[in-house]
Amino acid sequence: FSAMAEQLVLNADAALDINTGKLIKPATLVIEDNKIVSLSKSNRKAYAPDAKVMELKGYTLLPGLFDMHVHLTSDAQVHGYKRLQRTTQRSAITGVRNAKRTLEAGFTSVRNLGAPGYADIALKDAIKDGDVPGPRIFAAGPSLGVTGGHCDNNLLTHEHAVTSQGVADGPWAVRAKVRENIKYGADVIKFCATGGVLSKGTKVGAQQYSQEEMTAIVDEAHLRGLTVAAHAHGTDGIKSAIKAGVNSVEHVSFVDDEAIQLALEKGTYFSMDIYNTEYILSEGKKAGILEESLNKERKVGSRQRASFTKAVKAGVNMVFASDAGVYPHGDNGHQFSRMVKFGMTELQALQAATINAATLLKQQNALGSLDAGKFADVIAVKGNPLENISTMEQVDLVIKDGKVEVNLMK
Ligand code: ARG
Repeated sequence: FSAMAEQLVLNADAALDINTGKLIKPATLVIEDNKIVSLSKSNRKAYAPDAKVMELKGYTLLPGLFDMHVHLTSDAQVHGYKRLQRTTQRSAITGVRNAKRTLEAGFTSVRNLGAPGYADIALKDAIKDGDVPGPRIFAAGPSLGVTGGHCDNNLLTHEHAVTSQGVADGPWAVRAKVRENIKYGADVIKFCATGGVLSKGTKVGAQQYSQEEMTAIVDEAHLRGLTVAAHAHGTDGIKSAIKAGVNSVEHVSFVDDEAIQLALEKGTYFSMDIYNTEYILSEGKKAGILEESLNKERKVGSRQRASFTKAVKAGVNMVFASDAGVYPHGDNGHQFSRMVKFGMTELQALQAATINAATLLKQQNALGSLDAGKFADVIAVKGNPLENISTMEQVDLVIKDGKVEVNLMK
């Protein structure tokens, strides 16, 4: 080992090799500065005598988790008309709170799929600068959408003339919007391909952008080296988005066999928020979700779960995605047990939240596993998540970029 670098060593009952699903037992993970230098069966010779050693009895080490669909600047208690009273500035401060909660839940990376006023990019920068704690953020900025669509704001009458920042109609207008988002710091592009549950007056199954517009968005984003996420519940919109070449489809509720086949051919990822429905239906009314949206959710929730099962069985690439912000940040890990209940093995659910997510973000060489050379994003949970997935709901140690961010060990 290098003479000067400070080493942090984690001795744990086990560590998960996320690629093979094998547990290394007992395990020694050595971190130098912000990188993993080795993971092996426990071995005192693996680290320097003056290393800082943490003994994690009863714990399993895992790579830091990814949630591929969050809205950090959104508050789950504030929906519908209540949201009209939130300024971008107020939302950014909500984001500070939510970033901390997300990190405490073991999620060291997130993809933030839409925020007005580039508040997600401000938050990302503040975390990077060390001003506030939080995960690595891959931020979209304002989501693109058609006039009156799911990514517009349709709560007020025409006299108030409110239009969301990401609204653009027509192939050149959407290209200009992609360029604008890149100009102000976006890492990924998000657009709304179909109607949605939580928007006023949109049909959840109906396509919104035309094929021509979706193709223009994806072409422009890919030209500039960004990946694209498409919100799509309805079957036609899912297919058009996949044909346009999006990297991931969000929600994917009304998927059919043909769309699954297309996704398999193209390598498209499905990013399905199957926990969300429980919160919307139980707490949504109190939070201000419109009756119209609750009615849509009653049709979408169970159908989406059936689609999830189908997609898993077919072998579609899947990532962990919660849409936290609709439901409370910090509860992200509760989705793992639902992913297992609706068809994944425990290992598949964990891969969806680590190596698959890193690969979707083109970060597979830097993040997503405990392999030597990667950034040291590491978490510890009590027990064995391969046997009991609900262990993922309580993360006691979180290390991000080699730094201990959360330590609840006694
Ligand atoms: N943001 C999404 C929408 O409004 C949330 C969908 C939640 N429902 C669900 N079953 N996943 O469309």
